[in-house]
Amino acid sequence: MNPALEPLMLVFAGEDDLPVPTHALFLGAEPHEALKAWPEIVGWQPFKPLADAWETAGFKRVDTPEGKWPVVLVLPGKAKDETLALFATAYDLLEDGGTLVAAMPNTAGAARFEKELAKAAGHIASLSKNKCRAFHAVKDGRWNTATVAEWRELGAVRTIPDTTFLVQAGVFSSEHVDPGSRFLTTHLPRSLRGHVADLGAGWGYLSRWIDDHCTGVTRIDLHEADARALDLARKNLADTDIEVCFLWNDVAGGLHHIYDAIVMNPPFHSGQLTDVGLGKAFIHSSARALKRGGKLYLVANRQLPYEAELDAAGFAWRKAAEDATFKILIAEKRAS
Ligand SMILES: C[S@@+](CC[C@H](N)C(=O)[O-])C[C@H]1O[C@@H](n2cnc3c(N)ncnc32)[C@H](O)[C@@H]1O
Repeated sequence: MNPALEPLMLVFAGEDDLPVPTHALFLGAEPHEALKAWPEIVGWQPFKPLADAWETAGFKRVDTPEGKWPVVLVLPGKAKDETLALFATAYDLLEDGGTLVAAMPNTAGAARFEKELAKAAGHIASLSKNKCRAFHAVKDGRWNTATVAEWRELGAVRTIPDTTFLVQAGVFSSEHVDPGSRFLTTHLPRSLRGHVADLGAGWGYLSRWIDDHCTGVTRIDLHEADARALDLARKNLADTDIEVCFLWNDVAGGLHHIYDAIVMNPPFHSGQLTDVGLGKAFIHSSARALKRGGKLYLVANRQLPYEAELDAAGFAWRKAAEDATFKILIAEKRAS
């Protein structure tokens, strides 16, 4: 759970605080017990495990937030441009006189973003709790709309300089091609064939490389938890001749398909914390989804302990290469 969720709810907790609205939109939605008493709360959440948690708790979710709302709650991510763009989205979705309520951990720059919002809104109310800040501002016609327009622009789809790859603030590797993924492509055989999966596919760099270089591949499935990255991948692979499937999927929960080969640069962060468990879960999902003799091509930071997990998952593996930062592990699924 985002530690800022509790402070966010405190804004509506007491007699002197904001009243619970008749209906509200929650950008970056995460479930909280107190929200169950709200008359209507609709959530937008691009990250599949959190979107599942929101729906499992019984709340309504939308893929694309629309309309005008008296209250928009915002639990931003960690990137600066993404956060400011989300403030602009919230502003656009507020009705006149509506209230934007945001909360963030101090470690994510809460004080700085509170100042940014105050600069645009002119006035702001705020509280501190649990090493987080929650702050709110009313859309009262006095906002600096030029600043809001700049924020809106920060969230626009753009290309990585000197490439045709489309990216957007907030998705993984939105400024440049990830050097680990680039390193992996130097060790992917052009002889890859059949059905291939790209786990944690992001905006599609590895899949694009496979589509461009491996003529024996007949289908690529991109499994990605971030719906925004998957939308970009759709654009980055729009002109392919082979079958490509874009799957909004939590890879840790399994793949539900069988593959000849799998490529991955697994995530090792949950929110702002290092979480090697995710990479380990990706390895076990791969083991269950590969044909016997199928190959897994994995790039990871050198210090990440994936070798023992490959053993535990029943792979025969070798370290194919390493440089100062990354290692490439190639693993073959043994008979189960
Ligand atoms: C290290 S990045 C690699 C992205 C892409 N393959 C590339 O090379 O640019 C890991 C990706 O895994 C995604 N991810 C994180 N948790 C996930 C999960 N549980 N299931 C599927 N994808 C996940 C992230 O959104 C991110 O795009």
